[in-house]
Amino acid sequence: MIKKDSKTNHEIWSDKLTKIYGKGNEAIEAVSKIDLRVKPGIHGFLGPNGAGKTTTISMLVGAISITEGGAKIRDLKAGSVAAKQLIGFLPQDPVFYEDMTGEEYLIYMGQLGGLQKKEARLKAQQLLEFFNLFHARNREIGTYSGGEKQKVGIAASLIHEPKVLILDEPTANLDPIGRADVVKKIKELSDRVSVFVSSHILSEIEQMCEDVTMIDNGKIVISDSISNIKKSFISNLYILDTNMNKKFVSQLEDKKYILKARIDDIDGKIHIIPKDAEKLRDSLPQMLLKNKAKLYSFYQPELSLQDIFMEIMTKERGNKK
Ligand SMILES: Nc1ncnc2c1ncn2[C@@H]1O[C@H](COP(=O)(O)OP(=O)(O)OP(=O)(O)O)[C@@H](O)[C@H]1O
Ligand SMILES: [Mg+2]
Repeated sequence: MIKKDSKTNHEIWSDKLTKIYGKGNEAIEAVSKIDLRVKPGIHGFLGPNGAGKTTTISMLVGAISITEGGAKIRDLKAGSVAAKQLIGFLPQDPVFYEDMTGEEYLIYMGQLGGLQKKEARLKAQQLLEFFNLFHARNREIGTYSGGEKQKVGIAASLIHEPKVLILDEPTANLDPIGRADVVKKIKELSDRVSVFVSSHILSEIEQMCEDVTMIDNGKIVISDSISNIKKSFISNLYILDTNMNKKFVSQLEDKKYILKARIDDIDGKIHIIPKDAEKLRDSLPQMLLKNKAKLYSFYQPELSLQDIFMEIMTKERGNKK
């Protein structure tokens, strides 16, 4: 279900990118022929545990080999030295030199990225300020909180001024305040660098990103802007609430114009996916009258990314059975 390829320049692009771990009977196809199209801005990379996010990212940053297909960062082949220079990367489980201070660590990373010490110090100080860590600059990283460590990790990935920032679950293991802080900083970064960020916390992705790609079992299930995804999903769910939901649901289930009707576990209302929405709207008043039912509400909800994700995953997995 990939969006039609446009001629715009892509920050990240892949063609049938595939990773197979192991050989023979032991082989696992962790990523299977994925075509990524990542435009400038913040792009979310979603998928449940084991979907293949880290594997994909590891191929993009050149940390592991590509089994088949290929990828580019801007116009440069993923894994090449030139492509690596364009990228800032925060791994899922970053390893810090815990006995270095925040500032020492950033200067060190800057020098590794090719900066002179003086320049690295200046950039380190700017980044420490940007991430509200200046007060902690002379403390060892080992004493930093989880959120502070994540921010130092992102700062380190930015010190050589990359064009594309790749973050693998930057908010994992953080409390809600730490997460909100990291999300805010990532959003603020988007005017100077494109961001490709993986997460399975959908509400966060919804706050940060314009476009998303969802993968499951190593395959893309959807890739589009969040607004397009929401538009295409909103049309299909109707919520009905009456004083006799149980009775109504069994009547609705039998109608030809209904695909699915069920009482939702959480809100107790009837969630309806019609085959023919107009028929549903037309026949509802009569059904209510006939049953002498009271109507509390009938509306189309704005779906959260979480709802949509659950729906897509349920469908995907249902189809495979
Ligand atoms: N080095 C490896 N050797 C063999 N299999 C691997 C290796 N690394 C990952 N896998 C397998 O590949 C699949 C994808 O893993 P990956 O880490 O890419 O998923 P993920 O989407 O990042 O998951 P999570 O959300 O848990 O981080 C999983 O089935 C995993 O067990
Ligand atoms: Mg991962």
